[in-house]
Amino acid sequence: MADTRHFLTLLDFSPAELNDMIERAIAMKQAHKSGADQRHFPGKVLGMIFAKSSTRTRVSFEAGMAQLGGHAMFLSPTDTQLGRGEPIEDSARVISSMVDIIMIRTFGHDIVETFAANSSVPVINALTDDYHPCQLLADMQTYVEHRGSIAGKVVTWVGDGNNMAQSYINAARQFDFELRIACPEGYEPSPALVEANRDRVSIVRDPVIAAEGADLLVTDVWASMGQEQEQQVREAAFDGYQLNEELLSRAASDALYMHCLPAHRGEEISSGLMDTADTVIWNEAENRLHAQKALMETLLLANQ
Ligand code: CP
Ligand code: NVA
Repeated sequence: MADTRHFLTLLDFSPAELNDMIERAIAMKQAHKSGADQRHFPGKVLGMIFAKSSTRTRVSFEAGMAQLGGHAMFLSPTDTQLGRGEPIEDSARVISSMVDIIMIRTFGHDIVETFAANSSVPVINALTDDYHPCQLLADMQTYVEHRGSIAGKVVTWVGDGNNMAQSYINAARQFDFELRIACPEGYEPSPALVEANRDRVSIVRDPVIAAEGADLLVTDVWASMGQEQEQQVREAAFDGYQLNEELLSRAASDALYMHCLPAHRGEEISSGLMDTADTVIWNEAENRLHAQKALMETLLLANQ
């Protein structure tokens, strides 16, 4: 267990390993589209534990494992003993004794850490309250495909200092870019995380100033899963923090913009930007499939 590799945050891989994985994802995408047989992992089983809703993450992991020749098993708390209070440690021991790789979407980040510490096979964080590293693999792949290396570029985050924003902080460090975070007071990412990365991460309150000359603008919902009851308060707090045509006009002329989805048109992003013909947002969503196939391949090979 001690030498099992996991993917709980972007910091679990070196910058070189992350860049290799992005290149591998791009190659696997091309191979898949040209009809190549990618069933390199026959008989391998992915356990998928979802304590929160999902469209992209479930479809991409399940389709991806099928394309790799293995099988994916959906496990929800409502019909496993996890939902009846069986300890995470015991669940991890048992589930990892029967499958080859596990992904977990849950609330507290400590849950995936405890699971991984007790798992004999690789564990992937498929979103916690604190981080969403799989989405960052897809976002980085999308940037590289359209613009080349993101190293040295300026990325502006507009909105809540949530799990995605915190993953962008880790990405700034690992992929070597400057990150400006435009968020209202009281909705900042973890101060300790910002402080630890102050050489490349800054809080800029005004979204217009933060967007000036940026190469990539990114946003996400104002109320994440688990914060539904705060929706109205957050709508008021985030007034003015919308990624829209005007904000985009402040960025570099070839700037891209991204959203992990699901989106709330008219809140954190304008309908216009969601529906322009040349947005990369749909490509970003599709790349979840390719990036996670590269991730599963990397972890399965590392754990042979
Ligand atoms: N972006 C993302 O993780 O989407 P889902 O919640 O649909 O999985
Ligand atoms: N911040 C959002 C991301 C959804 C993919 C949430 O946690 O609900």
